[in-house]
Amino acid sequence: MMTRVLVLNGPNLGRLGSREPDVYGHQDLPALRALLEAEAAAGLEIDLRQTDDEGELIGWLHEAVDTGSPVILNPAAFTHYSYALRDAAALVTTAGGTLVEVHISNPHAREEFRHTSVISGVASGVVAGFGFDSYVLALASIGRRLAA
Ligand code: DQA
Repeated sequence: MMTRVLVLNGPNLGRLGSREPDVYGHQDLPALRALLEAEAAAGLEIDLRQTDDEGELIGWLHEAVDTGSPVILNPAAFTHYSYALRDAAALVTTAGGTLVEVHISNPHAREEFRHTSVISGVASGVVAGFGFDSYVLALASIGRRLAA
């Protein structure tokens, strides 16, 4: 049986590759998709999406609840202030699902406003600061949880 992993990316992450390459690197989202497809354990299917729209991201989390899909979420700037996104993330984890919060950069090493995450308290776990490897590590953790 295939398990679909939703890899959800918030605002401005569609600009990866050209956006602040010193912080986020030179690779774009299609490169991230290819990396995750190559790294996915047998039985895991990658469904990578990006939106700048808070409501769309919330809708995708509702979909994860309804389909029981594990989630890798980079909430981008919504991390720091979106209680609506937090409540949607809580729906996933309180339903027994897995949601891993990821960040390309290490927000704790950056500006003060990035030190707060309103998502972390309802996430299954958090991986930050390892570039695209943050997603690879999150994917590995999901594979291990499913196998356990
Ligand atoms: C980010 C960190 C956030 O602070 C920022 O707003 C982003 C990207 C990261 O992946 O490092 O857009 O989530």
